Amino acid sequence: MVTANRSRVVVVGTGSVGAAVASAIVQQGLCNELVLVNHHPEKAEGLAMDLADGSEFLGRFVTIRAGGWEDCRRADVVVVTAGPKPKPGETRMQELGAAIDIVDPILRHIRDSGFNGILIMVSNPVDVLSWFAWRRTGLPRAQVFGSGAALDTSRMKTIIGETTRLDPRLVSGYVIGEHGDSQFVPWSTVSFIGKSFAQYLEDNRSRYPGVTLAGIEEETRRRGLDIKGLRGGTSYGIAATVAGLVRMILWNERGVVSVSTLIDGEYEYGERDVFLSLPVALDGDGVGDFVDLHLSGDELARFHRSAAVVRDHCRLVADRL
Ligand SMILES: NC(=O)c1ccc[n+]([C@@H]2O[C@H](COP(=O)([O-])OP(=O)(O)OC[C@H]3O[C@@H](n4cnc5c(N)ncnc54)[C@H](O)[C@@H]3O)[C@@H](O)[C@H]2O)c1
Repeated sequence: MVTANRSRVVVVGTGSVGAAVASAIVQQGLCNELVLVNHHPEKAEGLAMDLADGSEFLGRFVTIRAGGWEDCRRADVVVVTAGPKPKPGETRMQELGAAIDIVDPILRHIRDSGFNGILIMVSNPVDVLSWFAWRRTGLPRAQVFGSGAALDTSRMKTIIGETTRLDPRLVSGYVIGEHGDSQFVPWSTVSFIGKSFAQYLEDNRSRYPGVTLAGIEEETRRRGLDIKGLRGGTSYGIAATVAGLVRMILWNERGVVSVSTLIDGEYEYGERDVFLSLPVALDGDGVGDFVDLHLSGDELARFHRSAAVVRDHCRLVADRL
């Protein structure tokens, strides 16, 4: 008998982000079955039909259909993208009140379905909601994480690529901390064509007048807000990011990505019971080993500030648990 690897991904929420995530997964042929769940079932039904209509021209056949919570039970990955439409000018943390009312019932449904796969949170504020999802579902820490600063890391690489007019994938390094205002780039971790990016910039000062590490970091932080101001919201960057994370899980790649994960006393980070982004190994078992970045004193202080912001907001929703 032929044994096929039957992988199922469920995407919850089919707005701008959910639809773009679903499309990226289908375009890349990452799974055998994609199930779309929305509280307005006709929206999920319409999106499933729309995506399926390109089947003839896709590289790999993917069964695409609308479904319900019962479909989570045998899912390998569930991606939660439901949330209030982000408003231009509003910070991610300001979305928390409206977001928790939407996301908490969804998490209860996922838990009650008997789901035992890997849960990826995308809804903002993603660090707070990932912590809440871990507590609400009772899943092991390896099986719950947020897309976190994986998108910001890709943004930082994109900006370096745009600045140097070289391939962004030549950049190695991470944005860490909160997916939000307190995120930062520990520049000691960022390398580019065989040397530290700081050294590269120093060696080529005359070619990049006015370009600074602080400027690139600020542009990275602002990029989401800038896109919101220009086109009303972000969707394709996060979709490519989430598809990349789904691929690492389903194809059991052992990538190292900066995603929002439970920090519980690892290395010198000195934090517990908080979800923040740090580079971790990701594969079919979910979140694995951490990387010890050997942060400088200043970087550690920024990491603790980020932890304080996220923890303060977790307290606001903890009484629901
Ligand atoms: N983590 C990231 O990097 C990142 C990037 C972009 C957006 N986001 C977040 O993704 C979320 C969705 O953004 P969007 O632009 O797709 O918004 P959207 O308004 O286009 O879509 C929201 C989705 O949530 C669903 N929804 C709304 N209320 C619901 C409820 N009560 N119950 C169940 N489902 C409900 C809607 O039906 C829709 O499918 C937001 O929280 C946003 O902040 C995260």
